[in-house]
Amino acid sequence: VGEDGTRTFALTMQRGRSEILPGKPVETWGFNGPHLGPTIRAARGDKVRMTVTNRLDEPSTVHWHGMRLPAKMDGGPHQTIEPGGTWTPHWTIDQPAATSWYHPHPHGQTAKHVYRGLAGMFIIDDQSVPGLPSRYGVDDFPLIFQDKNLAEDGSPTGDPLKGTFGILGDHMLVNGTYQAFVNVRTEQVRFRMLNGSNARMYHLSFADRRTFHIVGNDAGLLAAPVEVDQVSLTPGERVEVVVTFAAGEQVLLRTLAGSDDIDEGDFDLLKIVAAPRLAASPPLPARLGGPATIVVPPNATVRRFRLNGHDAINGKEMDMSRIDEVIPAGAVEIWEIENTVYAHNFHIHEVAFQVLDVDGDKPAAYASGHKDTVYVPPKSTVRLAVQFGRFTDPAMPYMYHCHILRHEDSGMMGQFVIV
Ligand code: C2O
Ligand code: CU
Ligand code: CU
Repeated sequence: VGEDGTRTFALTMQRGRSEILPGKPVETWGFNGPHLGPTIRAARGDKVRMTVTNRLDEPSTVHWHGMRLPAKMDGGPHQTIEPGGTWTPHWTIDQPAATSWYHPHPHGQTAKHVYRGLAGMFIIDDQSVPGLPSRYGVDDFPLIFQDKNLAEDGSPTGDPLKGTFGILGDHMLVNGTYQAFVNVRTEQVRFRMLNGSNARMYHLSFADRRTFHIVGNDAGLLAAPVEVDQVSLTPGERVEVVVTFAAGEQVLLRTLAGSDDIDEGDFDLLKIVAAPRLAASPPLPARLGGPATIVVPPNATVRRFRLNGHDAINGKEMDMSRIDEVIPAGAVEIWEIENTVYAHNFHIHEVAFQVLDVDGDKPAAYASGHKDTVYVPPKSTVRLAVQFGRFTDPAMPYMYHCHILRHEDSGMMGQFVIV
């Protein structure tokens, strides 16, 4: 923390060695270490300044996925950091508590850089909602889900830009760890789940099908907890859940196969081991105070985006020098995303949105909160109420794209400016 109250965080992108399979050290990439990156935490009102140094042999960028900030701080494909270079974005955190993340976003190379291991969480702390577990590493854990294909020597293999979706791995990593487990010591535990995979969709549930509560989506807490026994996450999406455990039990968190091509296979993800005695947790609060409903004004602008094939939106491949959409500052618009083929999702930088409907039907209750990434099932249309920010810059665009990184990299991405 500096004299003016600015909180500074240093991140260095580097190559390293880590053991994904025990006893088999392989090359991985990480921030400040060999694999993944530190969890950054800040609160609303904090002034933050990042010093991001690139110690790789190739250019990259670091994007703050979920952050509301000026376009030139966003870390998209225009904020290139050359090898040996340092980039120092700064902004004031001014958005509700949420589980965000950061990852590289170099033009055409995002899939490779993320698959090698560059990603981390960025938590915007709640001003403590009483009853919601919030002691990091005690009753509040980040879980980053990623799948890899591992060669005989333990190194991640496969071409993340091949095939229809790129990589669908058969080894499930949680926080970079294969066959991960966590010891818990309280009755209630909050998990902040991030799908940091290149392409895979997870259908998450516990082996005993116990129910749990969803308390937050990508961009903030829900109004009230929603009880479920399964939750689905596509790449880039986050969900915060609270789970109740009994003393001494062991529980498996799994992903179950679905039928949308990016969700094949049943896999165990994480073993949760509850201590023989658990500290009592307060009851989950009935209200969470999540951000208010996004109100769409009458005569709101409607924009339509058509996803077909895997390399274009509205028939246009991503072009770094073309601005696709110009949005008035502070606008609330309806974005209609039509998917004519196989699985895609849709992420918009800078904004918060709510899902109005999927093929005319209301979304699941647990997906009713503020989000920035949404699944668009094959042959369906998703309508979003999108709330744009007020940082104007007619020259520097933000991105919207499919977060299946193979699709993003091959051109399923567009650019908008806020003016
Ligand atoms: Cu998480 Cu434009 O990306
Ligand atoms: Cu983003
Ligand atoms: Cu896609």
